[in-house]
This record gives sequence, structure tokens and C-alpha cells, in this order.
Amino acid sequence: MISMKLNIALFAAVTFLCFTAAAQPSNSMATAPDYSHANEPLPDGVINWDALLKTVDISNDQQVAQFTFLFTNVSPSAITVLTVHPSCGCTTAELPPVPWLIPAGTNGQIKLTVNLQGKAGTLFKSVNVATDKGNKNLMLRINILPPPPLPEMTEAQRAAGIAAAKIDRQAVFKGDCASCHLKKVEGKYGQPLFAAICAICHEAKNRATMVPDLHNLQVPTSEEFWRAWITVGKEGSLMPAFATSQGGPLNDLQIASLAAYLNATCPSKVPSAATK
Ligand code: HEC
Ligand code: HEC
Repeated sequence: MISMKLNIALFAAVTFLCFTAAAQPSNSMATAPDYSHANEPLPDGVINWDALLKTVDISNDQQVAQFTFLFTNVSPSAITVLTVHPSCGCTTAELPPVPWLIPAGTNGQIKLTVNLQGKAGTLFKSVNVATDKGNKNLMLRINILPPPPLPEMTEAQRAAGIAAAKIDRQAVFKGDCASCHLKKVEGKYGQPLFAAICAICHEAKNRATMVPDLHNLQVPTSEEFWRAWITVGKEGSLMPAFATSQGGPLNDLQIASLAAYLNATCPSKVPSAATK
């Protein structure tokens, strides 16, 4: 039964192939893309690229880096771009449909977009452009700039902040306070989100004594512990509530990502009662 189905399928495929081959007008056979050199390096004198390596410096709150490579077919005959293949799923290429014919003496451009979510430091990506005359690697370098240092605070500013937060611990998300305390959080998760919104209080060199060191807590911690603190903070303290349901800036997914990040990087120093 299975082999019968297979035979039918094979028969259908073969007839289809024969039919399409027969239906090809003979002149289009001559221009069908030639993949035989696609794996060889592109020889000199075929394509001029505006650059083979492009670098961008980008602030750490950007979500994508974009590049455009321009090229010219400097050879006496047409070339065909067969594939454009980024090294990483984080990179997408924008170009006309392939096979893409580039007549002699004409130009083309390939736009590349690298998704930076969850990335830090210097990234190298490459993109392989395969043509019927050979292939070339284009290199991308992205320097994600470290976050700017925390602003220097005067004693008066510090006291004003604490006084306002004592009246309303959500004040940090409002008005003037937000310019320092509410950095761009959309699309951020985990470590970059912590750096954007928690570090200002918890990692500050000059923080007030009531702001605890999260790496050195003297209570048992767990993912649930972190989630609960971030969601509702603490009434009557300076720790704000971050959940949108409490008037804060973070959605459930962002809170879950912070809880997972903190649970992994600040392991509980004190065992919970259950495991004692
Ligand atoms: C405006 C300053 C401020 C910001 C911003 C802030 N916190 Fe806090 N946080 C505090 C203060 C103050 C306390 C101490 C609360 C108290 O009095 O118990 C605290 C307490 C905590 C605690 C309880 C620790 C313990 O002692 O058990 C956790 C957990 C915590 N913060 C996590 C975070 C996380 C995660 C973020 C970012 C989403 C964040 N905080 C942002 C000020 C801040
Ligand atoms: C110019 C930037 C800036 C502004 C504006 C600002 N803060 Fe802060 N805030 C900081 C920094 C930086 C820290 C970390 C402690 C430090 O360096 O003094 C901090 C810490 C805090 C803390 C933790 C207690 C402490 O001093 O360590 C609270 C609470 C706070 N700010 C509330 C507020 C409120 C409320 C406002 C608005 C009235 C506000 N802040 C405006 C930069 C700012």
C-alpha cells in the first residue's frame, strides 16, 4: 500500500518534471540561474562593494541596527544574485526576489536589519551573498554602547527625591522624576530591563541606606519572591510597584523576565524554611 502510494507520487513527480522541462522555451534555458559557482569565492573585478565591513555605534536602548550595502556589477556581463544568507536568525535581509539579475554596469543595494534584543557589547555578524559568479561575505560590526553613567546627585536633589517618594512611592514614574527613573522600557526584558529601571536605585554607589543590595539579601529568595516584590513593591516604603495593574510601567512578561534574571544571578543566600 505504502509503496503503491510512493509509486504514484513518483510517477506524478516525473511526469510533472518532464512536462515542465518540455514546456520550457529554449531561450529561458540559457538564462536559468547557474548555481555551479555559488560556493566559490567571488573573483575580483566582478562586483565593486561600497564596503565589505560596516560598523555602527548604537545606544543600548535601540532595538535594531540597520545597514545598507551598495554594489555595482563592474564585469562585462550580467550577474545573478542567488541567495543572501545571514549568519544569525537575528539578521534579516531586504532585497528584490531572487534570482535577482544585475545587468552589466548597474547597481543594487541590500538592506540588513539586526535585532538587538537581549544583546550587549560588540557583536559581529556576517551575511553571505551568493551569485552565479561566486560568493562574498559582508561583515557587520555593532558596538552597543554601555548605558551612560548614573547622573551625579546633589544632597538637596537626593533629599527631594526621598521626600517625594515618601508621600507617593510611585512618584518616580511621574513628571521630572521620570526623566531619570523611567528609561525606555518597551521591548526590554531581563538584564537590559534591570539596567534601565532597577539599577538606578539598587546599584547606585551613593544610594540611601534603606535601599538594599539585591545581591546580598538576608531573606530566602525565589522567582516568586522577585515577581511579588517587582509587581507590588512595598506599601509605606520607597520601593515602587512596577506592574501596570498597580500604575507601574512593566507588563507581566517583563516582570517574569526580571524575576527569572534575578533568580538566576542573585541566588538565595538564605535557605527557605522548607529546606532548613
Ligand atoms: C526608587 C528606588 C527604587 C527602585 C527604582 C527599585 N527599588 Fe527595589 N527597593 C527600594 C527600596 C527603598 C527598598 C526597601 C524597601 C523596604 O523598606 O523594605 C527596596 C526593596 C526591594 C526588594 C526587597 C529586598 C529585601 O530586602 O527583601 C526587592 C526584591 C527589590 N527592591 C527589587 C527591585 C527590582 C527588581 C527593581 C526594578 C524592577 C527595583 N527594586 C527598583 C527602592 C527601589
Ligand atoms: C537627575 C536624575 C534624577 C532625578 C530627576 C530624580 N532622581 Fe531619584 N535617584 C537618582 C539617582 C542617581 C539615585 C541613586 C542614589 C544617588 O545616586 O543619589 C536616585 C535614588 C532615588 C531613591 C532611592 C533613595 C536614594 O536616595 O538612594 C528614591 C526614593 C528616589 N530616587 C526618588 C526620586 C523621586 C520621587 C524623584 C522626583 C521627585 C527623583 N528621585 C528624581 C536620580 C534622579
